[in-house]
Amino acid sequence: MRTQAESPSNIALVKYWGKHGLQLPLNPSVSFTLSHSTSQTRIHWKEAPEFGYSFRFHGKEQKAFTPKLDAFFERIMESAPELSTQQLEIESENSFPHSSGIASSASAFSALSLAIEEGIRQLRNKPQVDLNRASEWSRLGSGSACRSLFPKAAVWGAHPNIEGSSDIRGLDVSQRLHPVFEDFHDVILLIDEGVKSVSSTAGHALMDGHVFGKARIQQAFDHVEEMMDILSTGDLQRFIELVELEALTLHALMMSASDPYLLMRPGTVAAIESVRQFRKETDTNICFTLDAGANLHLLFPAASEQKVMPWVENELSMLSNGRYICDRVGNGPKWSSAI
Ligand code: DP6
Repeated sequence: MRTQAESPSNIALVKYWGKHGLQLPLNPSVSFTLSHSTSQTRIHWKEAPEFGYSFRFHGKEQKAFTPKLDAFFERIMESAPELSTQQLEIESENSFPHSSGIASSASAFSALSLAIEEGIRQLRNKPQVDLNRASEWSRLGSGSACRSLFPKAAVWGAHPNIEGSSDIRGLDVSQRLHPVFEDFHDVILLIDEGVKSVSSTAGHALMDGHVFGKARIQQAFDHVEEMMDILSTGDLQRFIELVELEALTLHALMMSASDPYLLMRPGTVAAIESVRQFRKETDTNICFTLDAGANLHLLFPAASEQKVMPWVENELSMLSNGRYICDRVGNGPKWSSAI
């Protein structure tokens, strides 16, 4: 049997930062699902006396991925016992340059989980894939990956005022979006394409006992609720304020950890200043956000594209040697199989 899946990356508006237990978040988060930044994963399934797998990324074996993949398979085995008699040959590729410093674990683990779920569906003769289970498995590979299974926007983490929200999987909130957000753009400025000095996993660990930990968790619960209100009403002014506050808070938490570190580069700070100046001078709806890295994401509605893109091309991208990726809110993953 062969199965395949294509799944996008996502960009958090309210950030997941800190975890406990088996990949459970300390706080809820909300993200936009992207469109062009995807991973494609193909699996060739062969019956075998015991479980095993091989993994090739862009045609090459990548030993660096083995610890995360081993942990992932160990964690999902209980809910996918069929795997214990399968040998999987996995091939994966990213649509975006894999050295670009763009978080690829979200697209990688969601595509892998979905390609596995499609195979399990076949083996169990089920009519449909279970996206919730694929989301649960994705979380076990990389927390933020569980939000990539759903179109447009997803919430991850149990919130008392968001029905259906859960710590173990993402929740599709696409139906609650105001139309202005349905085709929102995300231009990713590739300011630093190198490997990050501190991984997200190490960063999450520094939230244990963080001096601002308790306040951050409370803030994130409040921000998720506020963001859901903003996403349904289409209030761009509040969106801009909240998204930038979240990005700067994330990096402030890194800078104020017990072992402090800094992932922004001089180009990141210059680009932030530039976005704020451009917004003020041109009265354009645009804001920035950051993941745990130096690359700046520019978020803006489709209606701002004509104003924003010439400025990005002619001015802002000088801060990233002309390197940027144009993405936008997308419709979630795709999958298929052949026997
Ligand atoms: C800053 O999901 O990459 O991008 O669960 O250890 O794999 P692991 O971490 P990961 O953390 C992403 C953190 C973030 C914010 C977010 O996407 O919510």
